[in-house]
Amino acid sequence: MAKRRRTLSGIKPTGQPHLGNYLGFLKPAMAMLASHEAFYFIADYHALTTVRVAEELREHTYDLVAVFAALGMDFEQHAFFRQSDIPQHVELAWVLSCVTPMGLLERAHAFKDAKAKNGEVNHGLFAYPVLMAADILIYDTHEVPVGRDQKQHLEITRDLAQRFNHLYGETLVVPEARIEDDVATIPGTDGRKMSKSYHNVLPLFSPEKELRKAVMRVVTDSKTVEAPKDPDTCNVFNIYRHFAPEADRKAWAERYRAGGMGYGEMKQATFEAINDEIGPYRERYFALRPDTEQLDRILASGAEKARQVAHGVMDRVRLKVGLGKPAGRGPKDG
Ligand code: ADP
Ligand code: TRP
Repeated sequence: MAKRRRTLSGIKPTGQPHLGNYLGFLKPAMAMLASHEAFYFIADYHALTTVRVAEELREHTYDLVAVFAALGMDFEQHAFFRQSDIPQHVELAWVLSCVTPMGLLERAHAFKDAKAKNGEVNHGLFAYPVLMAADILIYDTHEVPVGRDQKQHLEITRDLAQRFNHLYGETLVVPEARIEDDVATIPGTDGRKMSKSYHNVLPLFSPEKELRKAVMRVVTDSKTVEAPKDPDTCNVFNIYRHFAPEADRKAWAERYRAGGMGYGEMKQATFEAINDEIGPYRERYFALRPDTEQLDRILASGAEKARQVAHGVMDRVRLKVGLGKPAGRGPKDG
């Protein structure tokens, strides 16, 4: 069999994963397992740019291992690991930093948004895209499944790989983003992008009751039951459509346009559609989450696989830039 292409992606352990993460990243990433060799990891170094409580970082890390296990990732075939277990990520990030123009980072949306919001921004946040580029390039990655909001980070990664190759000769694989166009950006309960930092999420694996409550909170316009409505601009429909078979989706869209349908009824249908899809995963998640020893074993075996690749690529980079001596030229060789 021909060697499979490598897919890599990461998620920060900064809170409970939500349905935006699931639709924009987790589900497409899981779908790629059948055809690709996957390296998926927990971006705990990245989380340090915002998380200040050690225990939270550790617990959210375990949450994510249990999420990937519950969704059915095969940890024998693929690597699942913690970023901070592989120090080559930060080593490559430094080398890339030295070919990264400040202006490139100053133009990054995430930095600009954080600066506009908080005034002061820590250096980790400013350098975030360089570490992310290192995460990807240290594994000779071909494809990176992410949500639309990560598009610019992937462009920066490609830019840095090309700059490096231009300066030092072909060394790094230039990766491609895999963004689900249909999913794009999932709205949260307030209509903005669903995000842990906006407190507007529909949780992926919370008890059923909490999921239902969150769905009932999704904002809608104040049209009466009788009034005809537009499904395409409705936050509830924009979540529903990702969980329903096409025939149901069409039928509900017609009911919107015809009038006589209330949002309460639609929310109930949305809750049921979500619950049908994720219910079985949720059950597995709650069964797996308490066994932290097993979760530790998963991380250890993933780190083992990741380390081998990261080591090889870092050696290649060190050789190109002149760090250390080329292999075979120890002290005795003069
Ligand atoms: P958050 O914004 O909640 O902190 P992360 O930054 O941890 O989410 O995102 C993890 C992954 O989930 C990324 O690939 C990101 O693009 C995707 N993602 C996050 N929120 C959404 C959303 N609302 N719609 C689609 N994809 C999303
Ligand atoms: N920045 C990504 C996010 O916020 C997480 C991430 C870190 C990542 N390193 C990565 C995603 C490498 C893909 C590849 O969601």
